[in-house]
Amino acid sequence: MDKIKELKEQIESVFSEDLTLEKLNDLKIEYLGKKGLITGLNASIRDLPNEEKKEFGKNVNELRTLFNSKYEELKERLELEETNKRLESEKIDITLPATRLQVGAPNILEKVIEEVEELLMSMGYDVVDGPEIEEDKFNFEMLNIPKGHPARDAQDTFYIKDEEILLRSQTSPVQARTMLKGEGKTPIRMICPGKTYRRDDDDATHSHQFMQIEGLLIDKDISLSDLKGTFDVIAKKLFGDDCKTRFRPSYYQFTEPSVETDISCFVCKGKGCSLCKNTGWITVAGAGMVHPNVLRNGGYDPEVWSGFAFGFGAERLAMLKYGIDDIRVFYQTDLRETKAFDRKDVD
Ligand code: DAH
Repeated sequence: MDKIKELKEQIESVFSEDLTLEKLNDLKIEYLGKKGLITGLNASIRDLPNEEKKEFGKNVNELRTLFNSKYEELKERLELEETNKRLESEKIDITLPATRLQVGAPNILEKVIEEVEELLMSMGYDVVDGPEIEEDKFNFEMLNIPKGHPARDAQDTFYIKDEEILLRSQTSPVQARTMLKGEGKTPIRMICPGKTYRRDDDDATHSHQFMQIEGLLIDKDISLSDLKGTFDVIAKKLFGDDCKTRFRPSYYQFTEPSVETDISCFVCKGKGCSLCKNTGWITVAGAGMVHPNVLRNGGYDPEVWSGFAFGFGAERLAMLKYGIDDIRVFYQTDLRETKAFDRKDVD
């Protein structure tokens, strides 16, 4: 019984010390483990005289209950303290300004091209590709621009080998290449977006490398009104349903008649502003009916076949659509410039 009393005092004092969860666990083993102090008392019951066994057993049980209740109480307190400490250290101040994530966005030039592609594909056009390093034959001659023709001056380009191999100055050579593939037999509906080059000094509206979107349709009984209808659909898709279109007479060697295609100014709605230079109209593409010589060069009999062609400047479309006033922006890597368009896109 003295031993029980001694242990009881020991328990009282040990639990009044500063304990950690780890130490608490050690205590449990020390008192209630297999070879624990309280467990040892239980074993000694059998050596006692019978009349003392009951009383002794009761006291041992009380001692165990005392230990357990002190143990549980302290354990709960220490665990709570630990949780609070952890929560405190992991606290997030949600009122702090967040770090702005740098979100990428599709390149707007690509986006405009894809928009035109998608629309024309839905109208049955194929999207085709052509070489950027081109032969004089395709870039000029087959398009009715013979050597020495003054029209070549406006399309001065970079020559790779002699005067024959060059960087294409327009995507129109893809018209000639596509016609050769059609062998004068099959109708053609194609568009070709791609890079083009000219020996121009770079400024706000010129770039020595830029992109065009070429279109060609060849079939039977095609007239200028088909071109007008097609252009109207493209313009409305890109610039909104209230966009009006008009053709003005123009001159290209590979089309006859040739036109400049205008859209009504979407800023001033025709009243006149700086974007449309007070005319109410903005020119967006060159176009026309495919010249009989070009059909013939491509193997299509102009008595049987007719067609139209058009050529958009891709940057010009994107500049108009996104209100950009300098073509060089597309070819710079200044994120401060391009980010502005990203955000417009993301919003
Ligand atoms: N290739 C012309 C240029 O670069 C643009 C053009 C005009 C394309 C009329 C055409 C067209 O297909 O029919 O200036």
